[in-house]
Amino acid sequence: MDKPDPTFKSSNISSGDNVSFWIDSSPIISYNKPDQDIDTEVLIIGGGIAGLTTAYKLLQAGKKVVLVEDGFIGSGESGRTTAHLTCALDDRYYFLENTFGENAAKLAAESHSAAIDEIEQIINTLNIDCSFKRVNGYLFLHSTDKEENLDKEFTATQKAGLATSILQATPAIADAENQRCLVFHNQAQFHILHYLNGLAEAIIALGGNIYTEAHAEEITKNGAKVNGFNFSANDIIVATNTPVNDTLAIHTKQHAYRTYVIAGKIPKGQLPYSLWWDTGDLDSKWVSQPYHYVRLEEFDEHYDLLISGGEDHKTGQADEENISAMERYDRLEAWTRNYFPMLDNDLSYRWSGQVMEPVDSLGFMGKNPGDDNIYIITGDSGNGMTHSTIGAMIICDSILGIKNKWEDLYSPSRITLKTTGDYIKEAGNMASQYLDWIKKSDLKSTADLPPGEGGVLSSGLKKIAVYRDYDNSLKAFSAVCPHLGCIVQWNADEKSFDCPCHGSRFDTKGTVINGPSQTDLPKIHIK
Ligand SMILES: Cc1cc2nc3c(=O)[nH]c(=O)nc-3n(C[C@H](O)[C@H](O)[C@H](O)COP(=O)(O)OP(=O)(O)OC[C@H]3O[C@@H](n4cnc5c(N)ncnc54)[C@H](O)[C@@H]3O)c2cc1C
Ligand code: FES
Repeated sequence: MDKPDPTFKSSNISSGDNVSFWIDSSPIISYNKPDQDIDTEVLIIGGGIAGLTTAYKLLQAGKKVVLVEDGFIGSGESGRTTAHLTCALDDRYYFLENTFGENAAKLAAESHSAAIDEIEQIINTLNIDCSFKRVNGYLFLHSTDKEENLDKEFTATQKAGLATSILQATPAIADAENQRCLVFHNQAQFHILHYLNGLAEAIIALGGNIYTEAHAEEITKNGAKVNGFNFSANDIIVATNTPVNDTLAIHTKQHAYRTYVIAGKIPKGQLPYSLWWDTGDLDSKWVSQPYHYVRLEEFDEHYDLLISGGEDHKTGQADEENISAMERYDRLEAWTRNYFPMLDNDLSYRWSGQVMEPVDSLGFMGKNPGDDNIYIITGDSGNGMTHSTIGAMIICDSILGIKNKWEDLYSPSRITLKTTGDYIKEAGNMASQYLDWIKKSDLKSTADLPPGEGGVLSSGLKKIAVYRDYDNSLKAFSAVCPHLGCIVQWNADEKSFDCPCHGSRFDTKGTVINGPSQTDLPKIHIK
């Protein structure tokens, strides 16, 4: 594989060791570090698409806004996305209709379509050069799925008010004539980091303040501590992908999954710019059944980049299927070559990322349960570009005192009784992770550990996470996740310690990179 040069773009600018195409093709977007206490109207924590869109909208509405990001702009999951802009949701509209009712399915369709329009309008207003294109999206059946489900989905999307149609062959894929598909018309795609760069510039131009390498903690209704300084605000928005404030059990209503991406060149003109998805593996053991998602992006004057994703599993639980990350990339590549044989022999990129999957499939965006002035945007699954934009619209309205028509649908306080079965299944999976306390550890001794690798050791009743650095030094931490005490697992692909319970992740220095843990792994001295 022709790996990108990661010289300065190492894991401290991203939530994993592998460099995504977006990160590789953009400058690092950084601002000053905090150096004093700050008092503002709105404090936004998190510099991904959720935080930046909310900041931009609130500034436009005349609010005083400060945004803090503990890495750099886009260094979380936004920099690792594939950036399909679509109202074809991860879960089917017939599922939404059955779970929430016809009217709610309509509102979901309307809100995601409006989010694509909103992004397009922002791009046009700010003149952001981010290769935004309106494209069609094609949903075709996974080999485990049934023909009748495509028809059911067609009917449900029509009822929800979407512009869809059925085609007897899926455009541009190999073996197309055997693949009927559901077309979602007028979807879109863009280069996410070029978009975020444009948003960040607009935020500064409108008088907002952005701080990077600015870590927020002790989040309360009065504000937060940021790098030790007091940042006080009337309203606080936690846009950290997974909330890192104390929430009322949001972590039981959504679950963290890892998802994998490969990208390789194809000569320009061989494929139309489009989005393709399969309907997902119905035989999968996971509650959120993995599906494949594919698109093109401009690469250079001769080539486009084919970007293909999928092969998901619950975070920290790849071992439950005995399929390593490397094997998942290989499977993804084989699947992609089957449908898109023109893919270059050498892949240009491989990376993975984290998605938060709500049990009932819709994001949680609005007031944090039990709080009046703390807001969250999370649970955005594989539709985080649009979910985050909807979240920004809902929260902006809420702060301005305007009732938003999508507010109740996405309320973080909602309880969805119809998905209780999946809730119990996920809760059972989570509880079983505590058995790791009595399982054998994956390492017998640190002598087994080559440079650049990590693992978990048992020492009496203790579980120790160890990592051997490239200079041969050993780093050791408690392997007990500070969130609720599960044992973290080594992720050899992205070089992190991942918690199988609620998806907290820690880098090789023990620093937390994904919540809900609010603190790092405690350091341990070992011989
Ligand atoms: C491989 C992959 C493919 C995807 N494909 C699609 C797709 O095609 N279409 C789609 O719509 N969605 C897709 N998604 C989902 C989408 O990318 C995400 O949902 C979205 O980017 C999340 O944005 P965010 O702003 O909520 O989170 P993030 O981008 O993760 O931003 C949160 C930020 O908060 C910062 N932070 C965390 N804690 C703190 C703290 N204590 N103090 C300060 N800052 C903090 C983090 O550093 C991070 O930068 C995909 C996701 C992945 C991983
Ligand atoms: S993330 Fe909850 S216990 Fe680790």
